[in-house]
Amino acid sequence: MPLLRSVFIALSRNRLLRRFSERSRIGVRLSSRFVAGMEIDDALRVAEALNKQGMAVTIDSLGESVSSEADAVAAAMIYHRLLDAIAARKLNANISVKLTQVGLSFSSELAEDLAENLARHANAKSSFVRIDMEDSSLTQSTLDIVRRIHAKPLLRDAIGVVIQAYLYRSQADIEQLLSEGIRVRLCKGAYNEPAEVAFPHKADVDANYVRLAAVLLSSETYHGLATHDEDMIAAVKTYANQHSIDLSRFEFQMLYGVRRDLQRTLVREGYNVRVYLPFGSDWYPYFMRRLAERPANILFLMKTLLRF
Ligand code: FDA
Repeated sequence: MPLLRSVFIALSRNRLLRRFSERSRIGVRLSSRFVAGMEIDDALRVAEALNKQGMAVTIDSLGESVSSEADAVAAAMIYHRLLDAIAARKLNANISVKLTQVGLSFSSELAEDLAENLARHANAKSSFVRIDMEDSSLTQSTLDIVRRIHAKPLLRDAIGVVIQAYLYRSQADIEQLLSEGIRVRLCKGAYNEPAEVAFPHKADVDANYVRLAAVLLSSETYHGLATHDEDMIAAVKTYANQHSIDLSRFEFQMLYGVRRDLQRTLVREGYNVRVYLPFGSDWYPYFMRRLAERPANILFLMKTLLRF
């Protein structure tokens, strides 16, 4: 793993820097490159603007690894408010949730209960809950929880999960999820993982991404291909074209603030595009992972600092 990436991922866990950054004016300004704003209304306003540009949205209320039941319940409440607001404003949007945000680090029962309630609410509003995937220590518990919720009556269309192409186990996981009709978002993976569980080289991650994308595209279920990598996007387009897969049967997904040009081009070409839109004051770990993915973003950071 390149050194800079490891440094940023390590920094993403630094509590002191996090506390300082999240409270500072300059930090808030820096984060605005990747974050819609601090409040629900900021996210809804940006979501509406993205909808007008022909893009669907998935909204992420930032936060992860809460350590008390009260914080987990409070995080879930924000998502319930979001589901109501999305429906009230008739937005083309759903929600993305991390299970550690609703308690998985200390109680898988609590996380499952809160996630199931969100799926029930999403079902009532014809919406959808995407469970984000976190580090590999949580892969199995996350998949188990999603599979159990998905198996409940009425919740089949209300919940899906994320698979990371850098993990060796992902092909087997995808086969199981597909056999149960569970919707998948495929991404490369954003955490620091050891070579025992994940491909250490980008070329192998990319090759696995293309392999897994083909498996997803060939299934009957609607999936999301999350990437900004033009090679991955080209491979998906070629596969869909060669196998006569209608463009309505899958969507590309990209992060807010990353490759807006590419997002617009895909919409113009007739592809479904969904933007992952985070908001909230707990932006620091998310922001640091975005820097880890592309250290060139530091240049943008330096420019903003100089303008301040
Ligand atoms: P790659 O990292 O190879 O980048 C390809 C090109 O994309 C770069 O050369 C650059 O041009 C551009 N690019 C990529 N990242 C950029 C950035 N931060 N800033 C500017 N340009 C950038 N991960 C995870 O572990 N669990 C999850 O649940 C999710 N969920 C998720 C949802 C969505 C919608 C997306 C797009 C991504 C995720 N991810 C994620 C993150 C994912 O695992 C991965 O870290 C990033 O998408 C970067 O990988 P790419 O596929 O873009 O390719």
